[in-house]
Amino acid sequence: MEKKTFYITTPIYYPSDKLHIGHTYCTVATDAFARYKRLRGYDVMFLTGTDEHGQKIEEKAKQAGKTPQEFVDNIVCGEGGILDLWKLMNISNDRFIRTTDAYHVSAIQKIFRKMYDNGDIYKGTYKGKYCKPCESFWTESQPKDGKCPDCGREVQDAEEEAYFFRLSKYADKVRDLLENTDFLEPRSRVNEMVNNFIKPGLEDLCVSRTTFTWGVPVDFDPGHVVYVWVDALSNYITALGYGNDKYDDYDRFWPADVHIVGKEIVRFHSIIWPAMLMSLGLPLPKKVFGHGWLMLDGGKMSKSKGNVVDPYVLAEKYGVDALRFFLMRTFPFGSDGNFSNELLIQTINTDLANDLGNLVSRTVSMVIKYFGGTLPAEREDVPAEDDELVALASGLRGVYEDAMDRFMPQNALAEAFKVISRANKYIDETAPWALAKDESKKARLATVLYNLLESVRIAASLLVPFMPESCEKIRTQIGAKTEEFGWDAAGKYGVLPADVTVVKGEIIFPRLDLKKELEALENL
Ligand code: MSP
Repeated sequence: MEKKTFYITTPIYYPSDKLHIGHTYCTVATDAFARYKRLRGYDVMFLTGTDEHGQKIEEKAKQAGKTPQEFVDNIVCGEGGILDLWKLMNISNDRFIRTTDAYHVSAIQKIFRKMYDNGDIYKGTYKGKYCKPCESFWTESQPKDGKCPDCGREVQDAEEEAYFFRLSKYADKVRDLLENTDFLEPRSRVNEMVNNFIKPGLEDLCVSRTTFTWGVPVDFDPGHVVYVWVDALSNYITALGYGNDKYDDYDRFWPADVHIVGKEIVRFHSIIWPAMLMSLGLPLPKKVFGHGWLMLDGGKMSKSKGNVVDPYVLAEKYGVDALRFFLMRTFPFGSDGNFSNELLIQTINTDLANDLGNLVSRTVSMVIKYFGGTLPAEREDVPAEDDELVALASGLRGVYEDAMDRFMPQNALAEAFKVISRANKYIDETAPWALAKDESKKARLATVLYNLLESVRIAASLLVPFMPESCEKIRTQIGAKTEEFGWDAAGKYGVLPADVTVVKGEIIFPRLDLKKELEALENL
């Protein structure tokens, strides 16, 4: 039987500055979903990339005294650039698209022409407002007090000859899609889109510019470059081979299963993108999930406000997995969350060093101390007092899967941590050190330790998508390597051999001194 496919994307990032923790948040979440689907046996395509055209990039390059191409090359591929960041963060994307890639550029020209040929793009004069940082066009009435409704920065007057896309023609269909299907989640974002954009009336969208050149030229009208959002959104299909010969995966992976995007770009993905696809006569993605923002001191992080948090520094100081875990464990994915260094260090200490780390090291140490590293195969039947732990550990996978399938990583992690805290309590209840003193209780001691190893195995299996390297280390310590214990084993109890052998390893999550770390971070 052919494997089921799963196509998941992140937004493609603007290479205008170094990426910050907010961008990392989105990519890490998508990576966790992709890894989870692979573990479940799906044939996954995980796409990310960079959105390299537009006036903002052209101007930044000028300020830096570089050509736009040199400028973006450096931010994408240079040392400490975007590719390096994703490597550091252990991002498992299958493909990386740059909108300056030649195959994408020529596919955009075909896409633009196709929409023009079928009458959905026409020439007119654009008069309105433009927000440069967002690359967004607004009508005269949309900005509030002259400020961009998305980012709050000044908008500018704009008037030029331009091509327009008949977005208005698709208003009813898009509204139906939003209101009557699960296309856009969380559900709260649907009301936002319908009330703020569709009900006031969808106007046709300006889709070409003539006042700068850093973009994909309209091949039948060379003074025009394609609006950067038309160029950018199309990446999701060009990266599969639509309109080009570079790839041949369109039939296998389109329509996408989900586009993961931040809340401020939900508008583009849930209104403009479906309308473009309808115009092209292509199937629509199955879902757009709009996550919240990581805020700092209650405001959005942005380079221009100077309040960005550097993922490089945090990953190097505390470990990639600890950072990945913190991002997913702390903030509900659909809502905004407030980042703080204190929260980061406390989460590492509480969840990773104390709860998970201690459980692993105590369990492994006890198997070594009391049984020389290998449990005896003979032991007593599991007594009733173990039922609660055993039932909890065996039942987690289903709830975890449900949370992951609904893009609720925080809930999935909460499931994994249920067994970790129950197992820690079980150590206190069963007091293995007391059992060890009584030769007649050896069989009971072996059962207790086996239950603990099984709890660790199940928790570590469920945590793999979030902390791949650390979980592999944990699983090596408890004799349960990933290649031997697949996803099915994460939902079963009693999978480790009765005479399992453990291996002492390093402390995986060292405890941090909160005060010292906060001082060090503040003095960076
Ligand atoms: N280039 C467009 C996307 C085109 S997709 C066809 C873009 N790029 S971006 O670099 O500005 O942002 C990329 C993603 O990062 C967006 O989904 C955005 O919401 C997300 N984030 C940027 N700052 C963020 C936070 N502070 N918190 C969470 N996500 C944030 O938009």
